[in-house]
Amino acid sequence: MKTILVTGGAGFIGSAFVRHMVTTYPELTIVTYDKLTYAGNLDNLLPIKDAPNHAFVRGDIADHEAVRETFQRYSVDTVVNFAAESHVDRSILDPDAFIRTDVIGVYVLLEEARRHGIGRFVQVSTDEVYGDVREGFSVETDPFMPNSPYAASKASGELMVRSYHVTYGIDTVVTRGSNTYGPYQYPEKLIPFFATEALDGRPLPVYGDGQQVRDWLHVDDHARGVAHALLHGKSGEAYNIAGEALRVNLEVTRLLLSILGKDESLIKFVPDRPGHDRRYAMNCDKLKALGWERRYDFEDGLRATLTWYQENEWWWRKIKTGEYLEYYRRQYAERLAAGQDVSS
Ligand code: NAD
Ligand code: DAU
Repeated sequence: MKTILVTGGAGFIGSAFVRHMVTTYPELTIVTYDKLTYAGNLDNLLPIKDAPNHAFVRGDIADHEAVRETFQRYSVDTVVNFAAESHVDRSILDPDAFIRTDVIGVYVLLEEARRHGIGRFVQVSTDEVYGDVREGFSVETDPFMPNSPYAASKASGELMVRSYHVTYGIDTVVTRGSNTYGPYQYPEKLIPFFATEALDGRPLPVYGDGQQVRDWLHVDDHARGVAHALLHGKSGEAYNIAGEALRVNLEVTRLLLSILGKDESLIKFVPDRPGHDRRYAMNCDKLKALGWERRYDFEDGLRATLTWYQENEWWWRKIKTGEYLEYYRRQYAERLAAGQDVSS
C-alpha cells in the first residue's frame, strides 16, 4: 500500500480519516477526491494543508473519465470510499443524487478498481442498512432491511461491492458505522444542528415523540475503526463500528441543552420524519477481535464537541447561509409551525 484514494475526504468522517492517515503514516500518499457538494468543505482539511503526503482533487465519483484519470495520475493502489449523499431527510425530499452517488458512484469506483488493478477497496457504509432494530443488536450477517432512500442507496452500494469481490476477486472490506458526532460535522445532523441552533436561542425541532434510539460514535473512533478495517480486515468481510452508547433522542437533546446552559423551552415537538427508524443498535465484537477499541465515552465526547462548536463559529456560521437556509425552510418551516412546546 503506497497511495490511498480517499473519496469524500472533504466531508465530516472522511476528513477525520484523512487527517488521521496523513499524520500517522507519513510514508503513505493520501489523495482526497471530493466533488465538494454542499457537505464537502476544504476547511475540514486545513489542519493538514501543508502536509507533503497529501493531494486534493475535485471530482465526482460517478464521473468515470475523471476517476480513471485520477487513478492513473496518482498510481492509486487502495481506495477508501466515504463519498456519499449522507442525510436521511434530504433523501426523503430528493432521492435522485443518492442513487447517482451512493449506487452509480460506487459502481464506477469498483469498475475502475477492477480495470486499473488495486490492492484493497474499503466501502464505508452504515448501520442503517439493517433497518429498524427494535431489540437486540445487529451482527454483520443480518439481512438488509433499509427503510429510507438513503439507507436503500447505501445497501445497494454495498451489494455492488460484494458482487465485485465474488465475481472479479477484488479485495474488499465494508465498514458499517453508527451515528457519528464530533467537530467539523455539517450542521444539518442532530448534534451540530441542535448545538448551533441552541447557541443562537432558536427552536430545536424534535421529530415525533423524541423516543427514537441512536448509538453515538465519536468521529475519531469511527475514523480509526475504518483505518483498522483497512489494515487488518479480512477480504470480503463487513465490520460493524459501534459507539455502544445507545441514547434516546430527547435525552441527548436535554443533555446538550444543559451542557450549553440553555433552557428546555427551546425544544419543539414537530411532525415525525416519514419512515423514521425507532432504534439502531449494533454488536461490534468482530472489529474489536481485530484489536480496535474506542477512546471516547459519549458524555465526555459530547462536551468536547460542544466546546468545539462554541469555539469555532468561523467554521459553521458561513455554512448556515445560502443553500443551507433554503434547505432549512423546506425541511422545517411547516414542521415548526405545526410544532408543540415541551410544556404542552
Ligand atoms: P458528509 O455528507 O459529511 O460528507 C460526504 C462527502 O462526500 C462530502 O465531502 C461531499 O462533497 C462528498 N461527495 C458527495 N457526493 C460525491 C460525489 N458524487 N463524488 C465525490 N464526492 C462526493 O458525510 P459523512 O457524515 O462524513 O459520511 C461519510 C460516509 O460515512 C458516508 O458514506 C456515510 O454514508 C457514512 N456514514 C455516516 C455516518 C454518520 O453518522 N455521519 C454514520 C455511518 C456511516
Ligand atoms: O446511523 C448512521 C447514520 O446516522 C448515518 O448513516 C447517516 O449518514 C447519518 O445522517 C445518521 O442518520 P440519522 O438519520 O440517524 O441522523 P440524524 O442526525 O439526521 O438524526 C438523528 C436522530 O435525530 C434521528 O432519530 C432523527 C432525529 N432528528 C434529527 C434531526 C436532524 C430530530 O428529531 N430532529 C432533527 O431536526
